[in-house]
Amino acid sequence: MTTILAIHFGIHDSAAALFEDYAMLAAVQRERLVRQKKAGGAPQECIAEVLSIAGLRLENIDAVVFSRAEFTRHLYKTDPLRRIRDLVRGSRETTRDLSTVMVKAGTDNPFDVLNTEGVLRFFGLPSKASVFFSNHHFAHALPSLFYTDWNDALLYTADGAGDNVNYSHRIFKDGEITTLFGDDRWLHKPYRIDSLARAYANVTEALGFRPLHHEGKVTGLAAYGEPSLKSDFQSHFSFDENGLITSDFPNGTVMRDHIMTLCEGCSREDAAASVQEFVEDMILESVGRLMETNQVRKLGLSGGLFANVKLNQRLVESGAVDEIFIVPPMGDEGLVVGGVLQFLLERDGSEGWLDNRYRLEDVYWGRAFGDATGPRLMGFSPKIKKVSDSPVASTAALLNAGKAVAIVSQRMEFGPRALGARTIMASPQRRDINESPVKNSNTVGWHRVSANLK
Ligand SMILES: [Fe+2]
Repeated sequence: MTTILAIHFGIHDSAAALFEDYAMLAAVQRERLVRQKKAGGAPQECIAEVLSIAGLRLENIDAVVFSRAEFTRHLYKTDPLRRIRDLVRGSRETTRDLSTVMVKAGTDNPFDVLNTEGVLRFFGLPSKASVFFSNHHFAHALPSLFYTDWNDALLYTADGAGDNVNYSHRIFKDGEITTLFGDDRWLHKPYRIDSLARAYANVTEALGFRPLHHEGKVTGLAAYGEPSLKSDFQSHFSFDENGLITSDFPNGTVMRDHIMTLCEGCSREDAAASVQEFVEDMILESVGRLMETNQVRKLGLSGGLFANVKLNQRLVESGAVDEIFIVPPMGDEGLVVGGVLQFLLERDGSEGWLDNRYRLEDVYWGRAFGDATGPRLMGFSPKIKKVSDSPVASTAALLNAGKAVAIVSQRMEFGPRALGARTIMASPQRRDINESPVKNSNTVGWHRVSANLK
C-alpha cells in the first residue's frame, strides 16, 4: 500500500489530495480554507487538512505527485541564489512555472531544473518520499476515464493553458490510451494560439468581470443576448482535418486586444451570447470530428472550459454521444486527482490500472464537521432552526414558502460545484435575497449524514 500525496501549487485553484493506492482519502481546495474564490498559492493548508482528515502524518507519505506548475524561484537549479538576493533586497519571493522553465532549458525532465530535495523540505515532506511530476492535460483527462467502466471513448480536454498546450485529444480503445494531441511531445513546440477558454476569458474581462474567475456570469448573461459578434470570432478560428482548433492570431496579446476592441460598443448580453454560441459550435464540431473519425460514442471531458454547463448541455444533446462524463473537479484543482492516476498508471501499467476503475458516486472528499454543525449554526441566531432530515423535500417546500435554507450534509465537496452536500438557497421571491440570505432568513435547515473516511 502506497500513501500518495498530490500537490497542485497554481496561480489559481491550488489543492492537495491524499490517496492510499487507488482509494481517495481526502482532497481539498485552498479556496475552501482561505475563503478566497479560486485561491492559488502554496497549498500548505490543504496538505495539513488532508492529512488531518485521514488521521495521517507527513512521515506517512511514501510518494508525492506534483503538477508542473508553480515553485518558488530558489527551488530551481537555474536560480539557486535567488532566495538570498530576495532576502538582501527585502523583496517577496516569487514563483515560476515549472513547465516554462523546462521549455526554456530544453529538457523533458523536471529533475534537471528543480531541486527536488529542496521542494520536499519546502513542503515539510519526508526526504524518503519519491517524487513524481504529472502532465497537465493527462492529469485532466485520466479521471474522465478512470471513474467510468467504458471500453472505448474520446477523452477531450480544453483549458486556458497547461504544459504548453490548451487541448488534448486521446482515444481509449482495446485497453490502451492513444494520445492524438497534447502530451509532452508538444512541450517544446511553439505555443499555439488556439485557446477558446482564453477567448472566453478575454470576453469576461472586456465585460468588466474578472477573467478566470467570473466566466459563469458570462454564461448566464448569454441567455439574454443575440450572438451579433459570432461571425467575427468565427473568422479567426478554424479546424484541421483532425478536429484540432487553431486561430490566425499571432499571439495572445493580439487576440486579447482584438476581443477587447470587438466588445466595445456591443451590449454585454450580446457579447456574452456571441462568445458562448461560438465556443459551443467550435467544440461541438471539434469533438464531433474526432468521435466520427475514431468511431467512438462515449465522451470524457475535463479542463476549465467544461465548467461551462451550457456547452456541456449542447454536447449531451448533440446526438453524437451515447454517454458523457464530465470530471466534477474539471478545473486545475482536479489535477491532484489525475496526477495520482497518472502515477498509478505508470506504476501498474494499463491492465492493472483499468482493473481498479470504478464509477464515481460522489466527490465528498473534504472534512465532515459532524455533530458540532447543528449547535454551531443555531448559535448564530435564535431564528435558525433545524427543520428536517430529508433535505430535498423540505428544502423545496421551504423555498416555495419564501424561506432561505442551508443544507449541510456529509463531507465537504471537491470541485467548483455545490453537488448536494453544502449549499445555501433562498427563494427568488425574497426581497432581501441580495443582501444576505442567511442573515435575513427565518429558517435554516440542515441535514447531516454521518460519513466514514474509509
Ligand atoms: Fe488546466
